[in-house]
Order: sequence, then C-alpha cells, then structure tokens
Amino acid sequence: MAKLLIRGGTPLKGTVNISGAKNSALPIIVAACLADGESVLENIPQGIDVYTISMILKDLGAQIWFDESKRLHVIPDGLDRYQASYDLVRRMRASFYVAGLLLARLGRAEVPLPGGCALGSRPVDYHLKGFQALGATVSIEHGYVKAEASELVGTKIYINRSSVGTTMNLMLAASRAKGTTLLENAAKEPEVVDLAIYLNSMGARIRGAGTDIIRVDGVDSLKGTEYSIISDRIEAGTFMVACGITGGELLLANVVPEHLRSTIMKCEEAGLEIEEGISEIKVRANQRPLAVDVETAPYPGFATDMQQPFVAMMAVADGTSVIRETIFDRFRYVDELRRMGADIKVERDTAIIRGVPELTGAPVEATDLRAGAALVLAALTAKGETEISGVELIDRGYEHLDKKLRQLGADIERISDDCEESLMEHLTPPLMERL
Ligand code: UD1
Repeated sequence: MAKLLIRGGTPLKGTVNISGAKNSALPIIVAACLADGESVLENIPQGIDVYTISMILKDLGAQIWFDESKRLHVIPDGLDRYQASYDLVRRMRASFYVAGLLLARLGRAEVPLPGGCALGSRPVDYHLKGFQALGATVSIEHGYVKAEASELVGTKIYINRSSVGTTMNLMLAASRAKGTTLLENAAKEPEVVDLAIYLNSMGARIRGAGTDIIRVDGVDSLKGTEYSIISDRIEAGTFMVACGITGGELLLANVVPEHLRSTIMKCEEAGLEIEEGISEIKVRANQRPLAVDVETAPYPGFATDMQQPFVAMMAVADGTSVIRETIFDRFRYVDELRRMGADIKVERDTAIIRGVPELTGAPVEATDLRAGAALVLAALTAKGETEISGVELIDRGYEHLDKKLRQLGADIERISDDCEESLMEHLTPPLMERL
C-alpha cells in the first residue's frame, strides 16, 4: 500500500499542466465501444479509474491500449460478451456506464449493481427507470442488474434530479435507439457536453447537451474516430486551492477557464488573485485565505468534487466559513482534518469551519478520492510531517499528483509501490493481449 509523506510549508511556484478530465474519459472510453472500428483518444489521464474501465471493456472483448504518445486506442469489434466482471465493476461506480453500452450494442446487459461507497448510498434507480422507458426489461438478480431489449425505442424521459451518470448512460443507450429520445432535466456538466461532442463526431445526432433538455435522434451505426477530451476542471480547481493554501504563485496550463467559473469566484472571494487566459489561468495568493461560505450544486454551481479541497483551505482561513453539501454524504473525512488541528463542526449536510492559524502534520487516511486531495492540500500547509495512507484512492482520479506537486516545489515523497504506473503497464502494447 502506497503512502505519501509530506512536509508542509513551501509555497508552490511554477507551471502545472492539467490532465484530461477523468469524468469525461470514463464515459468516452465506453462510448468508443458503441462504434464500428477504432477510436483514438487523446488527453486521457492515466489514473486507476481509467485503468479499471479499460480492463472491464477488455474483459468484454474490446482491444484497448495506450501508445507511446499516451493516446488510447479502442477497437470494440470483438466486444461480444454481455456480463461485466463483478471484481472490476465493484471498484468503481462509473463502471455502470457499460450497462448503457451493452444494451445499445448487444441488446442485453448483466452488470453488477454498484454498491454504496464512501460517499454514502449511491443508487442507480434513475438509470434503470430510463432503460425501462427505452423499452428494456430490467430486473435485479443475484446482485446483478439484468437488462434486455430486442430494440430500444426513443421516448421522453424526465430525470428526477440532475444526475450526471444517468444523463450519460441514457445518452449512450439512446444514441443507437430507434427514433428520438428527449432527456429532460438533464445534467449540464461540461463532461456531458464532451460526451455528446464525441458521440456526434462518431455519427450520433445529439442536440442540446449543456442545457436541461437533450435530444437524441437514434442512428443505426457509429464509426470510430479521433478525439481529444477536455481538461479536468476538478484537478485545475485542486491546484488553484493548493496555491491558495500554500501562499504560492501558479500558472495552470491546458485548462478551460469557463468550466471553472464557480471555483474561480469562490477562490477570488477567499482573496486569491486570478487572471484568466484562453487556455491558462494565473493564480497568486499574497495573504492568508479569507473565510468564504459555499453551497455545492449541479453545474454551473460549485462542484461537490471541489468541496473537500475547499474545506481544507477554509480550515486555515481567517474567519469562520459555512459549507453546505447538497449532492452526497461527503463530510466523513473531516475527522482526518481534525487530527491535523482543524476546527470543524458538522451538522447534517453543513460544516462550520473556524479557521485556525496553522495545521500540524499527523498520520491520516484518505477515505475517498477528493478527501485524499483535501488531506494532501492540508499537509502542504501543515507544520511538520503528514503521512497519508489510502493513496490508491487519490490515484483513481489524479494523474501523478505527487510528481506534479514536487515539480512545483512541494516536499512530498511517495513510499512503497508506484501502483498507478505498474497498473498502467497492462494497457501498454507489450503486455496487451490483442485478440
Ligand atoms: C458524477 C461524478 C462525480 C460527481 C457527481 C456530481 C463521474 C464518474 N462521477 O457522479 O465525481 O461528484 O457526478 O457532480 O462522473 N442519484 C440517485 N439515483 C440515481 C443516480 C443518482 O438518487 O440513479 C443521486 C445521487 O445519489 C446524488 C445525485 O443523484 O445524490 C447526483 O448524482 P450523479 O450526478 O448521478 O453522480 P454520479 O454520476 O454518480
């Protein structure tokens, strides 16, 4: 099990290149398997979640590998198995995208029901209702969701609550359905738009992505294509906050500033100086962060994935902040921040944070991906040494976080296996099992 050792106190300085968005990469790799022929995907981050989705699809019969230029090749022509591996799917909730894929491609899907996770209960009932509305029969047997449809037929689907996963899964399924599907109350996240653009580049007919009504006119077939995915707004936001918490000066390169609007606004309120370019953002922090109140919301609101990193910054802010989490049960990690000296009180969905002048290093454990990022940020400013375990969770969604921070001057060291890189070897040509 890998650990990170961090000695805090160094202001971060320099340029950091932001990787491709994990939450775009996952559905887009799945979407590539809806096509006939090869897709070549660029800007795909090499994190464990990308590895997991690729292994699930390989297990179903697709060929997937990274070339030397880090482009991901996907050839789905041999994908003919409809039962997804429990061992792989249970690792990641986003694996459930294969249900939409298999239904659209094979007319049959057996995918393990994703269980709860560190973010609390995360049901897939909206996904299942959507598949049923498209004409599939759906049952849950022995822990598997079983869905079958001789033909999916477009219809009007109202999604109960803005849900990124449901919107994307139904876009996948509807793209090859007969007729028109209208997804109402659709999620508007940039990753939803990215998936629509990629599907359209393969020959799909999707309009309205980025608004709350998405229209999908089903097509008979899709063709593999080349595509470069958007950059990761959550990784960019995490570095912005890392700059604020350490009193640093950073240039974030390869970003889409428009996708970061709510994070930028809150960071400015917290006293950070931010200058936007076309695809870069300069961030400077000349003072201790100021306390800011935040409420998470679906895009374009403040992202729930930025809540934990932001709380880390508020833990050392000047004043008291109130952070309300409206999407997930996402405050369990604050116990770990308290171990570092943070003064945080949680009442249901709200955290009240009295900023302290200084945190102190301690042994702590990452309980989920973004909680892990919050601990890294807290450690960067803490006095003394912090030892973070559970680093595999951070590796799920951040590409080389420790290396990038080291290049910016952080005193950070990874001990034990470089799990992230050894896993990626399974997706390079020498070890790839071409079928
Ligand atoms: C995605 C992101 C995650 C982000 C979240 C919200 C990926 C891989 N993950 O997760 O990083 O934090 O969006 O922006 O893209 N819900 C139901 N029933 C369902 C589906 C969802 O009740 O069938 C609820 C969820 O419990 C949650 C809310 O709807 O309270 C929104 O969840 P959703 O947008 O679907 O999150 P994910 O797609 O799982």
